[in-house]
Amino acid sequence: MSRSGKNPDRKVRTAKKRSQSSTLWLQRQLNDPYVKQAKADGYRSRAAYKLIELDEKFGLLKGVQRVVDLGITPGGWSQVVRKVAPKAAIVGIDLLETDPIEGVTIFQMDFMDDDAPAALENALDGPPDLVMSDMAANTVGHKQTDHLRTMGLVEAAAWFAAENLSEGGTFIAKVLAGGTDAELLNLLKKHFKHVKHAKPPASRKGSSEWYVIAQGFKGRD
Ligand SMILES: C[S@@+](CC[C@H](N)C(=O)[O-])C[C@H]1O[C@@H](n2cnc3c(N)ncnc32)[C@H](O)[C@@H]1O
Repeated sequence: MSRSGKNPDRKVRTAKKRSQSSTLWLQRQLNDPYVKQAKADGYRSRAAYKLIELDEKFGLLKGVQRVVDLGITPGGWSQVVRKVAPKAAIVGIDLLETDPIEGVTIFQMDFMDDDAPAALENALDGPPDLVMSDMAANTVGHKQTDHLRTMGLVEAAAWFAAENLSEGGTFIAKVLAGGTDAELLNLLKKHFKHVKHAKPPASRKGSSEWYVIAQGFKGRD
């Protein structure tokens, strides 16, 4: 305890083998109130609070029946959906292995695989009313390459949503600062009544991530 009675920030000693950046990451994790809250609430990721905050602002989850979770691992978003809409059927996909979540069908595969969309569709007994993507491409450190890779994932997710959502449905996706590029924005505006961007408080200020929220799917052509 410090003299003020508050817990001082926890410092992480730099181990020989730990790089400066991973030390900073660990330090930030240990001092992050959302990480602490996630532990207390039983969520697998601090990302859960981004969805909770987006839901508070845009009312995304109430009454959803079928949900697709793109980039599901470790599973925080699906846990939130299970809590708010316990009867909803959920299917998720990720490159990484995900510990099972009750009531959620999980595929470990690349969403960009030709077989992925059909696998997701077949796992639900009807069209989804919410498609959410928190996918982020592994960064290589080259700004333009990273941007293009992540936007490629967002675009694929948006097309999946436009081809599968039920009328009135919602699509949300992580995008990079600057929002969605013109082509994607046109696609979303054509298919949805409302398209907005938001950065929930749980999204780290220094990060370039934003979310696009598209509501009121107009239906397939
Ligand atoms: C920020 S995490 C998602 C966190 C999750 N929303 C939660 O609440 O726990 C992003 C995930 O996207 C996944 N991902 C990235 N590219 C992918 C792809 N092509 N196909 C499937 N998943 C992908 C990553 O493996 C990673 O687990």
